[in-house]
Amino acid sequence: LRHFLTIEGLSRELLTELLDTADSFLEVGERAVKKVPLLRGKTVCNVFFENSTRTRTTFELAAKRLSADVLNLNISTSSTSKGETLFDTLQNLEAMAADMFVVRHGDSGAAHFIAERVCPDVAIINAGDGNHAHPTQAMLDMLTIRRHRGDFENLSVAIVGDILHSRVARSNMLALKTLGCPDIRVIAPRTLLPEGIDQYGVRVFNDLRVGLRDVDVVIMLRLQKERMQSGLLPSESEFYKLYGLTRATLALAKPDALVMHPGPINRGVEIESDVADGPQSVILKQVTYGIAVRMAVMSMAMTGQTTQRQLTQEAN
Ligand code: CP
Repeated sequence: LRHFLTIEGLSRELLTELLDTADSFLEVGERAVKKVPLLRGKTVCNVFFENSTRTRTTFELAAKRLSADVLNLNISTSSTSKGETLFDTLQNLEAMAADMFVVRHGDSGAAHFIAERVCPDVAIINAGDGNHAHPTQAMLDMLTIRRHRGDFENLSVAIVGDILHSRVARSNMLALKTLGCPDIRVIAPRTLLPEGIDQYGVRVFNDLRVGLRDVDVVIMLRLQKERMQSGLLPSESEFYKLYGLTRATLALAKPDALVMHPGPINRGVEIESDVADGPQSVILKQVTYGIAVRMAVMSMAMTGQTTQRQLTQEAN
């Protein structure tokens, strides 16, 4: 790995190696990930042009646990407000000897553009670009599923809600397919499905009550209103009635089905509080595993080696 821009084109072996590496960070415990010296002397710069709670903070924690120096550029108080371009902003950060940029941007393709055209010598990690990709979210989702279900071979996984605007849905469909999940379902109204959804090898359902039947995992998505034209916003109450995950609709899935959500959750819009906080929910586990996954991605991107191999070398 040099950059981590998308799940597309990555092999099953690489995704598995990434999950194994993340697992090795969690071996000491579900929450505690010990500090390791893998990125000592390296500088990681978080550059978020879009808001974030989970992704930005877990990247920061992950970089610190890898012993990197971390810069968090606050875009709202940066000189972009004076008209400085993305190109110039990043070139100035590169001049400070940044080794890695973790980038979130509202435009699809921004991370690719930076990797190819702006800073080809810096490792670029995509922390979400437009509605295109959120590859580290997909990998922490895969880690959550694997740690609870062992593997992907016999699973039915449903992704529910605003598929059209969701970079998480796109990355998850690709990751599940690559890892061998045989039954990937997307459940959404026609208006919230992208053209060409069939190319992902998924089964499409417009009726939540049909699509949820006997699934092992339910991944809920929020309505991404910030990406919708105001006249096309669905009514929240209507959406909840038809597509909300409630105790009643969850009962259609397998009795021990996992409930997942990348966050932020909108209670009473796509998910009932009792379900989000209930015994089947692993939503906060996803956040915890995000630290280990981001440690794995950053260490593999920076070194091209798995952490386990490196740790063995250091021990010798
Ligand atoms: N899941 C996710 O990307 O959340 P944030 O927008 O808070 O980073």
